[in-house]
Amino acid sequence: MIDLFPIVGPILRRFDPETAHTITIRALATGLMPGPRAADDPVLRIRLWGRDFANPLGLAAGFDKNAEVPDAMLRLGFGFVEAGSVTPRPQPGNPRPRLFRLPEQGAVINRMGFNNEGLEPFAARLERRRTDPRCAPGLVGANLGKNKDTAEAADDYALGVRRLAPLADYLVVNVSSPNTPGLRALQGREPLRVLLRRVLDERAACRLDNPPPLLLKIAPDLTEEDKADIAAVALETGIDGLVVSNTTIARPPGTPERFRGEAGGLSGRPLLGPSTTLLADMFRLTGGTLPIVGVGGIAGGADAYAKIRAGASLVQLYTALVYGGPALITGIKSGLAALLKRDGFAALADAVGADHR
Ligand SMILES: Cc1cc2nc3c(=O)[nH]c(=O)nc-3n(C[C@H](O)[C@H](O)[C@H](O)COP(=O)(O)O)c2cc1C
Repeated sequence: MIDLFPIVGPILRRFDPETAHTITIRALATGLMPGPRAADDPVLRIRLWGRDFANPLGLAAGFDKNAEVPDAMLRLGFGFVEAGSVTPRPQPGNPRPRLFRLPEQGAVINRMGFNNEGLEPFAARLERRRTDPRCAPGLVGANLGKNKDTAEAADDYALGVRRLAPLADYLVVNVSSPNTPGLRALQGREPLRVLLRRVLDERAACRLDNPPPLLLKIAPDLTEEDKADIAAVALETGIDGLVVSNTTIARPPGTPERFRGEAGGLSGRPLLGPSTTLLADMFRLTGGTLPIVGVGGIAGGADAYAKIRAGASLVQLYTALVYGGPALITGIKSGLAALLKRDGFAALADAVGADHR
């Protein structure tokens, strides 16, 4: 496939980031852009939750909020795509501007606030692709959020599970966006226990032969006590995995002065270290028994490999795509495959958590 990003990227960056994103989604939705994907190196295969991933690199939530372009993204080479966050009812999100590029830092700050079209159009798109012969191989997960004005958060997540459990390859309960007031408090021990029991009950009530695994996505800004509580509740309730992590409200050294006061979540390169440390902590606290999706700051094969060695079974990215374009996907996969082979791993699964042994 010819890489047009060296030409298209600079043009897109002349637009404000949100307009550039809308243009990208529209272009991808035409279905004309990505060519056929090359076969993945067999060393990258992994089987989790009874599902086969051709490679462990996924598109993180927030890029395809309305499930408009999962097949286009799979064709670009992702092994899986996490669409959403979707809330039961459509909502506009926060006022603009709400998305900022920090190119020197390889970072982005966003305070989108779950702007999305709501559950129905999202579900209809997933429904349609199930019978579409042009649908690309790979898995499509759904990331669930809550509407800003819903008082009882669990009701919204339950609605998401009920509607999407029959349609998505996996579900993520996202309680870690910094841009919905009160959301991250759901990571506390008691509220989390109540919420996870409720969504697991809801999934059971769907009576599916092959119910989708249910994962919890957590924030990087947690105390030691928070981490231990989350690990304990995750194991006790029996959820199927963790996504580590969402964006950070921290502003690490090196964040330009004019962005320090900009509210929202920071993603990209400055998040690589903190999110990988949290991933290692969660792997240790759960005794390596819970599959973890590692996300935050991945921009190369070595970053993906570091997450896998720290305990990730799958990885995802978003921000690096803004700066590197789709060629990054092939680059990360081949870099990762080379590192696995260099260190003598016959299969990806053998490297998961290698740093802990
Ligand atoms: C513009 C933008 C929007 C995002 N929206 C969501 C979202 O709706 N739900 C979610 O769980 N994470 C969302 N995220 C977080 C990403 O999924 C990911 O966890 C985070 O950006 C770290 O990965 P990265 O450094 O590769 O971008 C968003 C990130 C960005 C940059």
